[in-house]
Amino acid sequence: MSAAITRLLSTSIVKKQIVAITGLGLAGFVVFHLSGNLLIFLGPEAFNGYAEKFEKLGELKWLPRAGLIVFAILHVYFTVLVVLENREARGSRYVVHNDFGSTSWAKRTMILSGLIVFFFIFIHIGDFTLPEKSGAPTVVPGVADGESLGLYGLVWNSYLVWWRALFYVIAVCCVGMHISHGIQSVFQTLGINHPVYTPIIKRASIAVGVVVASGFSAIPLFVLIVRTPPV
Ligand code: HEM
Repeated sequence: MSAAITRLLSTSIVKKQIVAITGLGLAGFVVFHLSGNLLIFLGPEAFNGYAEKFEKLGELKWLPRAGLIVFAILHVYFTVLVVLENREARGSRYVVHNDFGSTSWAKRTMILSGLIVFFFIFIHIGDFTLPEKSGAPTVVPGVADGESLGLYGLVWNSYLVWWRALFYVIAVCCVGMHISHGIQSVFQTLGINHPVYTPIIKRASIAVGVVVASGFSAIPLFVLIVRTPPV
């Protein structure tokens, strides 16, 4: 890496900007993922059809995946650097400033919800991405002739287990909270502070967080309540 880039990356504001931009990218994925997942309410054909479109990309599907992994690594790595740097700065008598310009309560919430989201992703990939999408785990009890419902069946069966459904509701509420605070931090990091627009941004960010948390939560809660898929 050239000396100029190393110098640039070592400045606190550039680190925060990287956290902000990668965070926005990851939030974009979450909203896109939510829109695909809500197809579960239209039945197995719609839901599986959406997942199959992605499968049909073949090796090309590693392109968006690689982008997601790089964004996630940069987001976590630079967040850790900023938090450590600010901790060090508080120890010095020269600099006193908040991480990402947020209050200490919001900051603590961000770190905790971020950690929960981080571990959730690994459990989630183990639940839905890695298993086979055929055979016994995809056959939902009560569905005629023991027919496999593919990925839809896998997801449905997972949420029939109440504690797993509850875990998902808690995790996606953390995702919503993290995104909501995150959007507000992005605008502070980018130096956008306006008497009219800042309160609107705050309300909009809360709305995005609520839509993400309630949209994702609706899926396990629906399964828990309905129990037999309407197919
Ligand atoms: C109720 C909530 C959710 C449901 C039902 C759900 C469903 C799924 C399913 C079915 C897959 C596997 C897709 C496939 O293998 O074809 C998947 C993958 C994934 N989900 Fe979710 N998801 C939920 C929430 C979330 C949240 C909140 C996040 C992020 C914070 C997330 C991030 C991911 C990631 C990173 C993958 C791997 C994508 C890949 O295979 O390339 N999911 N999800």
